[in-house]
Amino acid sequence: MKYLKIIGKHKLSGEVKISGAKNAALPLLASTILAKNELVIGNMPDVVDTNTLLKLLEKLGATYKRDKNTVTLNTLSINKTKATYDIVKTMRASILVLGPLLARFGHCEVSLPGGCAIGQRPVDLHLKALESMGAVIEIKNGYIEAKAPNGLKGAKIVFDKVTVGGTENILMAAALAHGKTQIINAAKEPEIVQLCEVLKDAGLDIKGIGTSEITIIGTNQELLEFKTFEVIPDRIEAGTYLCLGAITNTKLKLTNVRPDHLDAVVSKLEEMNFTLESTKDTLTIMPTNEIKAVNIITSEYPGFPTDMQAQFMALATQANGTSTIDERLFENRYMHVSELVRLGAEIHLNGNIASITGVPGKLSATDVMATDLRASSALVLAALVAEGETNIHRIYHLDRGYEDLEGKLKLLGAKVSRHQE
Ligand code: UD1
Repeated sequence: MKYLKIIGKHKLSGEVKISGAKNAALPLLASTILAKNELVIGNMPDVVDTNTLLKLLEKLGATYKRDKNTVTLNTLSINKTKATYDIVKTMRASILVLGPLLARFGHCEVSLPGGCAIGQRPVDLHLKALESMGAVIEIKNGYIEAKAPNGLKGAKIVFDKVTVGGTENILMAAALAHGKTQIINAAKEPEIVQLCEVLKDAGLDIKGIGTSEITIIGTNQELLEFKTFEVIPDRIEAGTYLCLGAITNTKLKLTNVRPDHLDAVVSKLEEMNFTLESTKDTLTIMPTNEIKAVNIITSEYPGFPTDMQAQFMALATQANGTSTIDERLFENRYMHVSELVRLGAEIHLNGNIASITGVPGKLSATDVMATDLRASSALVLAALVAEGETNIHRIYHLDRGYEDLEGKLKLLGAKVSRHQE
């Protein structure tokens, strides 16, 4: 296994180019199961998760070529409908092939994803919604076995909870269903908006894009003609680098970013006393003379993203005063707390609420363990301001979602290197 060595307290500066959004790329790749033509996707982040989904599509019978950040895909040749455990266990988002496979072939088997480091994360809402579209679903030997021999039928789906993956799966299922599907209480994340827009450009009749009520008129199993498109910039990677500028208190410019996707994050940084400047596709954070404490509640978009919670916790260790974070989406998303404490942070947990008492300039390096993707990036941020040499173990989590993290950090002047355990 590999680990990352970071020597803290080096002066950073410069610019960082934000990559394509992993969480947009995954459903978009799954949606290509609905395509009747070879298609080209640009700005595809070269990270482990997107490569895993490509591998899954390939196992199903698709062919693809990847040239850096451009992927050319042909899914017409798909002739298998089983997403096996060996792949699904490495990436929960593999569940996103369930809707499109079922819609196109009328049957499929997808391994149950199981739990993960940030909680139980059931898929019951995905299954319930597909059942109301006429699917017959059984759980057998750890697999979701889904059938819709006469095709899926449009339905009115009311999600009990806002679910990003659930909304995506149903959007893709509804695309080839017979008749009208209404999704009520749909997720509104930018990644959902892009999926809707790509499907719309592919000829799908879809209304209410970006709202909590989306209506789709299905094609009755006719495949779609996809256009070439580019994956939107990664708002979580961008938010992570903004936190990097903030925690090291340096001027940092992000390019290839969508500032309008980062309102909640920017507003919390402003509350912490940072000034940010934006253009249509750049965002610059300026240093401040005092980092102020902040209170954060995670919620669905456009609220503060749970995927930025760990990075803000690292940042709050450098604030004057006590910050609070209330994690409302995932029940077990505080695995990074004990690791930050090992670096000298003062954090107390009470149920979902973390209180972080700032210890500006006082973190000290040690060995820490990455537990999930965003938790790992919080440890990188903390290590950059810790006195001494921090070793972050199990960095494969970082490779799942941050493209060329070390390269980007080195360009900014960070002392970072990768080693074998
Ligand atoms: C996606 C993101 C993830 C992000 C999360 C919330 C991807 C690949 N992942 O995950 O990075 O942290 O959105 O913004 O895009 N739930 C149920 N039953 C279900 C589905 C969800 O109870 O059938 C619950 C979940 O346990 C969680 C909440 O609903 O508490 C939201 O989960 P959801 O929006 O579905 O997250 P993901 O799509 O898995």
